[in-house]
Amino acid sequence: MAEIAKDYQQLPKNYLFREIKQRKLAHIARRPGVHVYDLGIGDVSLPLPSNVTNAMAQKALSLEYAETFTGYEGSEGGVELKNRIAEYYHALGADILPQEIFINDGAKGDCADVQTLFASGTTFGLQDPAYPVYANSIILSGKAGEVDNNGQHKNIVYLECTEENDFIPDVPKEKIDVIYLCFPNNPTGATASEKTLKKYVDYANDNKAILIFDAAYSWFIRETDKPKSIYEVEGANTCAIEIQSLSKAAGFTGVRLGWTVIPQELSAENVDPGEINQLWRKRQQIHFNGPSNVAQAGGEVILSPTGLESVVESTNYYLNNAKSIKATLAKAGIKSWGGVNAPYVWSETPTVDGKKLSSWEAFDHYLERANVIATPGVGFGPSGEGFTRFSAFGKSEDNDAAIKAIVDNLQTN
Ligand code: MLT
Repeated sequence: MAEIAKDYQQLPKNYLFREIKQRKLAHIARRPGVHVYDLGIGDVSLPLPSNVTNAMAQKALSLEYAETFTGYEGSEGGVELKNRIAEYYHALGADILPQEIFINDGAKGDCADVQTLFASGTTFGLQDPAYPVYANSIILSGKAGEVDNNGQHKNIVYLECTEENDFIPDVPKEKIDVIYLCFPNNPTGATASEKTLKKYVDYANDNKAILIFDAAYSWFIRETDKPKSIYEVEGANTCAIEIQSLSKAAGFTGVRLGWTVIPQELSAENVDPGEINQLWRKRQQIHFNGPSNVAQAGGEVILSPTGLESVVESTNYYLNNAKSIKATLAKAGIKSWGGVNAPYVWSETPTVDGKKLSSWEAFDHYLERANVIATPGVGFGPSGEGFTRFSAFGKSEDNDAAIKAIVDNLQTN
């Protein structure tokens, strides 16, 4: 008899965004015809630029002819795209070689799978709140360890992100083996300076720890003292893995394309330079036959000079949405953070009829009163309680109408 692994039973009842979708559908079923504004999941709304869609269409059409047809192209992605990615890092002043780049079908899979590199008993540091995939994947692989009376897993150390530390935790006092960092942060929108990242890089090198740097939102950085890649920070090539995505940068949430960088110099306790790079290569050969060749054709255009210009245009559009969310919340006296170098606005839950709402109460309130979906902060971790995340990825007219509806309907009487 096939038995289900017990690790699966430790997962939350519902994946956060699935739970939200179910509640949205139930709301629509109760109020047929209602227009629900969705500022929940970070899914893009702008269409792709025509040079990107043309390149993908041409690639797709070339598959019709024997002379131009291509099949498997290797589990790490194509040489041309890897070269473009290496150039992208070079332009940031970072030294990354094509053989250190592993192209994937979007960052999510590697965010979940990268922990498979590490032995059970490894301790994992997570920003709290954080993208739920990090914790859930560690739990799924059985590496989270026993759960204590507070519901905390033995091998997961939560690095609290609070208003007091500007949602950027200081480096841990104790040794943690692997630390996930996401800047600009999902969900808080906090963005780390070079100085802060240097502290983490020094911590990791001193402790022979590894940083897993989720850079999916780097494309939204506008402040010049904020690095877009961890490899802009001196010393990062010996201690950091970076995961990158074209989903939010270039509207590829449906097309699917991203990459992971594992520098040759990366080492850790009892791990020699080059070893992790080789092991991940082998792992990819076993698990993955490479990203879609059509998606890669689009990716090459995005990383060209004109493609990068369109990334600036689309990210500006979403940053304007974020600005508008923040301004409207501020007028209603609701504090918010993020949204400056990030497409997420993190806001305190409101006080309604004299009571400060919990994250899920605010979710229900916004949905019932204003037909707006926003993500409950607690879904990203215990320190997210009392907060809501607004995604700025909607169409600007919906974005503005949604946030206005929220503030116009704050009180129940
Ligand atoms: C989010 O909304 O937090 C995520 O971006 C959704 C995802 O990428 O899985």
